[in-house]
Amino acid sequence: MEVIIQKDEDKASLLVARLIAKELKAKPSLVLGLATGRTMERVYAKLVQLHREEGLDFSLCRTFNLDEYVGLESDHQGSYHFFMKQHLFSKINIDPRNTHLPNGMASDLAKECEDYERLIADCGGIDLQLLGIGSDGHIGFNEPLSALRSRTREKALAPATIKQNGPLFESLDQMPKRGLTMGVGTIQESKHCLLLATGKQKAAVLARAVEGPITSMISATALQLHPHCCVVADEAAASKLQEQAYYRWIFENEPEWDDFH
Ligand code: GLP
Repeated sequence: MEVIIQKDEDKASLLVARLIAKELKAKPSLVLGLATGRTMERVYAKLVQLHREEGLDFSLCRTFNLDEYVGLESDHQGSYHFFMKQHLFSKINIDPRNTHLPNGMASDLAKECEDYERLIADCGGIDLQLLGIGSDGHIGFNEPLSALRSRTREKALAPATIKQNGPLFESLDQMPKRGLTMGVGTIQESKHCLLLATGKQKAAVLARAVEGPITSMISATALQLHPHCCVVADEAAASKLQEQAYYRWIFENEPEWDDFH
């Protein structure tokens, strides 16, 4: 795992967008795993800017989102389908047929999850998976005790997640209490993982995820097993990491990061 610390949320989001752009330029048919949440809004704004100002081309890119709520129509303002359209898909030149999210309205949710896994495999697997982190340490909707080898499935949302995401709905009873999510095992199979955490409210959970022991109680700790995982954090989110000086030294001195200073 590599940890890159940036001064603030804006710089951290820009770095993540530039890392995605680099992969997309190297492989225009990139299979890109996408995430939702407030943290991602700024990343998507930066990608839209790179598309508009530098012609970043998404025409061949294929995307798979991590998760979706169960029981929300895709045009519901709280759905992740809506979020993705609003923040990214409607603003770049991606072919809507190449964008995929699990369908939380499917009549057979188990089959929907199996089909989603198959579709990812048929595309050759995910090249780069973008991730946020929930206040309970989840990635996607992999709530505490998610098996570290889990696959795409239906998951009951934890109280911490309902508390975290509830304010995004008009009232708490409108927020679905279940989601469909790629499993921790599905995420582990991506060729690269890129996790972004910003803000002081993420500092404690990020420290446990990056430097704590691997545990299914915090599904993000599974990323410690991933051979190519990069964590980008702003100073506030990184503030509880023990080895900040070491991470900063690597970023400043390793040639692979030269283009990103
Ligand atoms: C939701 C998503 C997660 C995301 C998390 C972080 O729960 N299912 O994939 O990581 O939100 O949200 P935020 O960026 O709003 O803190």
